[in-house]
Amino acid sequence: GLKHLVSISDLSTSEFASLVDRAAYHKKLIKSGEPVGSEISDALKGKLVTLMFSKRSTRTRVSSEGAAVYFGGHPMFLGKDDIQLGVNESLYDTTRIISSMTSCIFARVNSHSEIQQLCQHSSVPIINSLCDTYHPLQAICDILTIKETFGETKGLKLAWVGDANNVINDLAIAALKSGISVSIANPEGITMNPTILEAAKLVSEETGATLETSHDPKKACKDANIIVTDTFVSMGEEAQKQQKLKQFASFQVSSELTKLAAANWKFMHCLPRHAEEVTDEVFYGKNSIVFEEGENRLYAAIAAIEHFVLPSK
Ligand code: CP
Ligand code: NVA
Repeated sequence: GLKHLVSISDLSTSEFASLVDRAAYHKKLIKSGEPVGSEISDALKGKLVTLMFSKRSTRTRVSSEGAAVYFGGHPMFLGKDDIQLGVNESLYDTTRIISSMTSCIFARVNSHSEIQQLCQHSSVPIINSLCDTYHPLQAICDILTIKETFGETKGLKLAWVGDANNVINDLAIAALKSGISVSIANPEGITMNPTILEAAKLVSEETGATLETSHDPKKACKDANIIVTDTFVSMGEEAQKQQKLKQFASFQVSSELTKLAAANWKFMHCLPRHAEEVTDEVFYGKNSIVFEEGENRLYAAIAAIEHFVLPSK
């Protein structure tokens, strides 16, 4: 049957590891400067790759379009003001029509239920390109970046100082699958989704990596190898901005916090970044790998197309 990329928890540990390995493989190929073979460069020749995005995007858009071009496909960006969806047409009708003419749909939506509806009604693979609950492409990219930086993932500790939604939901599962222990600090009043914690528990039992949650950034960052945060106000939450900034007041990643980390600590952020989340000193400092991370989004998108789209075309 048709396989979609919805969330990291849908993937087996070996399937996830192979996506990361393939991303690294294609990166090496591209960086070598040698022309890629026609098996790759013609794989989507004559086909559309559509991006149905109802929210802004820099990295996800550029990386998915770049990945489509790498395979010889034609990327087509459909922003929310471009198509009939939501104004003149239902998600069902839109999905039936778009999927009938394209090789796959990269979809950036609001609620996770929209991704589920897309998967149900699409005749081609859906690649979840961010919903309120998951961000699988970011998690593939982040584990690739961690592997490149540390060589080995097993035994590392990742600290999350931030919100409890899409990015950490997939990153926590991805890290645990890679043998990385995860310590999550969310502000008071914000807690992780129980479905994610349940899935995380099963992965922990499988790989031996541990997960803990608290409201204490210091506890999370203690001896951490990787410190990660995300925006405090996600797209779609603009109305709650003042309240959320108040909740996150003591959650800025600063040099004071990173002092608690392991000597080889690195800072990561999916971007876009705002100053309240992390000081300039940390964000632009020598321990920050945010721009290497950002670039790796391209290779994650390539691996996703190879794994989910090429077998079905
Ligand atoms: N990290 C990420 O998904 O960035 P964009 O919102 O710019 O795509
Ligand atoms: N949590 C952020 C991630 C953006 C890539 C958001 O949903 O806006």
